[in-house]
Amino acid sequence: MSDMWAKISETWDILKPPLRPHPEVVRAFEREIDTADTDIVLLGVTPEFARWGKTMIAVDLMPNMIGALWIGDDATRRAVVGNWADLPLEDNSCDAVVGDGCLGVLPNRAVRLEVLGQIARVLRPDGRAAIRLFTRSETPETLAAIKEDALAGRMKAIAELVLRVSLVLAPRDCDGTLKMSAVLDAINEMFPDRDALLAAAGWQPNVFSLIETYKNSDTVCTWADGDTIAEEASRHFGEVQLVSSGDYPVAQSCPLLILGKPLQ
Ligand SMILES: C[S@@+](CC[C@H](N)C(=O)[O-])C[C@H]1O[C@@H](n2cnc3c(N)ncnc32)[C@H](O)[C@@H]1O
Repeated sequence: MSDMWAKISETWDILKPPLRPHPEVVRAFEREIDTADTDIVLLGVTPEFARWGKTMIAVDLMPNMIGALWIGDDATRRAVVGNWADLPLEDNSCDAVVGDGCLGVLPNRAVRLEVLGQIARVLRPDGRAAIRLFTRSETPETLAAIKEDALAGRMKAIAELVLRVSLVLAPRDCDGTLKMSAVLDAINEMFPDRDALLAAAGWQPNVFSLIETYKNSDTVCTWADGDTIAEEASRHFGEVQLVSSGDYPVAQSCPLLILGKPLQ
């Protein structure tokens, strides 16, 4: 499994919105999904979602990520080690599946389709899924525009820089697969003087440890466009919608994918 995810739990506190859920994202999920009285499966161990549901099973491939971020098992909730492409769960066993950015950490479209199929399999017939996506647009902005915003102090967090640069660099094919080391290389080229960037952006000096986890890493992320993912989802669901997840920075690239009527 990825060397990069093994390190990322150590820099979790630096990972801010938009790469982590903004409070508006939490409210958007709560509007779309019954998070109070349901059996929920969480893809990942996202702390902001961990207390939802009458019961919750959180699934993540990496024991150290569970150890670092999971709120702890109790009578109603637990985290298990497992692959989303082969969920260790019964058919028709939950009311909701939720995930934040989870389709974007898969290596390509083929795996994304497997995961969408697994979500359909574990949902009850009236169940729903909500997944926040990171989607590239048909007309991406430029690296120059991103650089200008950062140096003008218009970026609250380095997470915004990482997301915007990734969406520009992502290949325009159905996979959208990009090595995270390429994102680091581009940021280094854009900002050869990190002290100047820190001073202009007003960030804490430790923020670069987040992107340093990308160095020499083979880890890829996928940044497909929303219509491509919606079409893939329609192979496994009778109802597919993309809805806004809020109005925070870069939110327009982070819609919620809402899925209903799983096709069994
Ligand atoms: C940066 S984190 C995801 C961040 C996400 N936004 C969150 O809040 O949890 C990436 C996580 O996805 C997990 N992961 C990636 N691919 C997976 C898969 N196929 N099955 C299960 N977990 C996976 C990794 O182990 C890692 O813990």
